[in-house]
Amino acid sequence: MTDDENVLARIDTSRPHTARIWNYWTGGKDNYSVDREAGDQIRQLHPGIGDYALADRLFLGRSVHHLAADVGIRQFLDIGTGLPSADNTHEVAQRATPDARIVYVDNDPLVLAHARALLTSTPEGRTDYLDADLRDVDTILERAAGTLDFTQPVALMLLGVVIFVEDDEESYGVVRRLMDALPVGSHLVLSHTITSPAMPDVDAAVAFWNEHGTPRLTQRTPQQLTRYFDGLDLLEPGVVSCSRWRPQVADGEVPDEVAMFGGVGRKAEQKAADQA
Ligand SMILES: C[S@@+](CC[C@H](N)C(=O)[O-])C[C@H]1O[C@@H](n2cnc3c(N)ncnc32)[C@H](O)[C@@H]1O
Repeated sequence: MTDDENVLARIDTSRPHTARIWNYWTGGKDNYSVDREAGDQIRQLHPGIGDYALADRLFLGRSVHHLAADVGIRQFLDIGTGLPSADNTHEVAQRATPDARIVYVDNDPLVLAHARALLTSTPEGRTDYLDADLRDVDTILERAAGTLDFTQPVALMLLGVVIFVEDDEESYGVVRRLMDALPVGSHLVLSHTITSPAMPDVDAAVAFWNEHGTPRLTQRTPQQLTRYFDGLDLLEPGVVSCSRWRPQVADGEVPDEVAMFGGVGRKAEQKAADQA
């Protein structure tokens, strides 16, 4: 089999897959009828699903722009990339800093098949794509080092992907190991589906997904999300609904909450107490 045939053979169209349903909710065309049917059923259970997906993508855009334009970050490691969409990480980053380097990582074969659209770097910058699992931290770091300089700050992007690591401690461990490999000045951008008594329909939608779709999704509370940022300086406004992270709205306007919360943290000098 050729490489292309190998990739196509890995695409399972019998069950809804997260990258494809996400693509459906965000208005893309790279999905199958099984994804659209499940996507519509989930929308019936949780009508806010479109706002949730959109808020996450806009959070990606605002956080990457802030890090590239205001903080001067020139390297991005985007794990759980998803299918190419409008304003992918490299497009936002390279608009602000054309020499930015981006490594994308995803484990879905359809994302791999579409990866060419993620490799449209500026001539000054660079993009690369790794077909790898978030849990394979050593493999990701080793292969990303071909494009990224791990002695210089990196923004680790984990949007809507840690939700697929079911075990809490394993999920915290994966994020910590990745951040431990990055130098001071690096940032963590993370978004995650929450569970909250105020949004019971989200729990029903996730239960439906876990019965029919793949991979299984684990919701966490906003307090549990804050733990991913332990040891980092959490940028204002902290861990909040993605729609409320530095929204570009008129003064005094507060966007509605969505069930996707996120935050951005900076790896600072080790605190004196840690060093003692
Ligand atoms: C909900 S989509 C989020 C896409 C994008 N990060 C965004 O926020 O718009 C989740 C993505 O994570 C990928 N994914 C899920 N589990 C993964 C894993 N264990 N390792 C790498 N990627 C994974 C899926 O294939 C999918 O593309």
